[in-house]
Amino acid sequence: MFPVHRPRRLRLTETIRRMVRETTLTVDDLIYPLFVVHGRDIKKPINSMPGCWQMSIDHLVRTAKEVHGLGVPAVILFGIPARKDEYASEAYAPDGIIQQAIKALKDSVPDLMVITDVCLCEYTSHGHCGIVQDGKILNDPTLELLQKEALSHAVAGADMVAPSDMMDGRVKAIREVLDSNGFTHIPIMSYAAKYASSFYGPFREAAESAPKFGDRRSYQMDPPNRREALKEVELDIQEGADIVMVKPALAYLDIISDVKRTFHVPVAAYNVSGEYSLVKAAAQMGWIDHDRVMMEILISIKRAGADLILTYFAPEAARLLQG
Ligand code: PBG
Repeated sequence: MFPVHRPRRLRLTETIRRMVRETTLTVDDLIYPLFVVHGRDIKKPINSMPGCWQMSIDHLVRTAKEVHGLGVPAVILFGIPARKDEYASEAYAPDGIIQQAIKALKDSVPDLMVITDVCLCEYTSHGHCGIVQDGKILNDPTLELLQKEALSHAVAGADMVAPSDMMDGRVKAIREVLDSNGFTHIPIMSYAAKYASSFYGPFREAAESAPKFGDRRSYQMDPPNRREALKEVELDIQEGADIVMVKPALAYLDIISDVKRTFHVPVAAYNVSGEYSLVKAAAQMGWIDHDRVMMEILISIKRAGADLILTYFAPEAARLLQG
């Protein structure tokens, strides 16, 4: 009881605060998402995500070298194809934009971990993450396309694949196709608990992947559900996921915490586009201290239980962390 107990004693100086600090963020925790387009010398700003661009491969390589130089261990790639069709053909074309980008990155920055987002929405004419028939998103026929896509990424040299489509059974399907083609060593980071979130708005501008009709609520999770996240994660681990992801991060810290406490695999959290844009907008207005808010958000995601954070803030955070 007070006056014997005075918690402020352990907060008096930065030195003592450092000593009793329970959570640390390091560059090792960060994964940087990048958007790749066809062409040369293209670096097109994404309006709703200041500091992010759609980049052609030459700029992508330059940026990847930079973030690798800052100590960031990994990037995750999103592709914007030249043409979209009903079957997302460019998602698994051997010379598709992602397949080319993977090769270029592995040639020029071999130590940088190249993770690929495995999903169809950037490549389908209707913008959904699966095959569409009569306005419905078909589950099982979509698995075959996701297998082709994941395999083509592995063939191109991807170090890890990350399915984000939320079709049932896709982790199993992808594990099988990788294993039967000599890629038993390639890990799967599954977007296991991915919610149908309005925080993805700016990303859909960045990746040109907004659905042309309807929404993603028949495959992505319903935001009020908590128990269901554990079921999704459990299934993905049973199917062979090596790392499981919760997405978005900030409005879903309870889910990150539940997943961390329940399972024994690394947990990733996606600090999504809308979470990034909110900070950028408020900072531009002069309403918040950008760097402090950014670091507080990232540490809160780690404190909740994330081992890895996918974040557009990666280069800025890395710069601050490196002093
Ligand atoms: C693809 C995908 C999305 C995001 C990552 N992969 C968009 C979506 O599901 O609509 C969102 C990332 C972000 O908002 O930063 N399915």
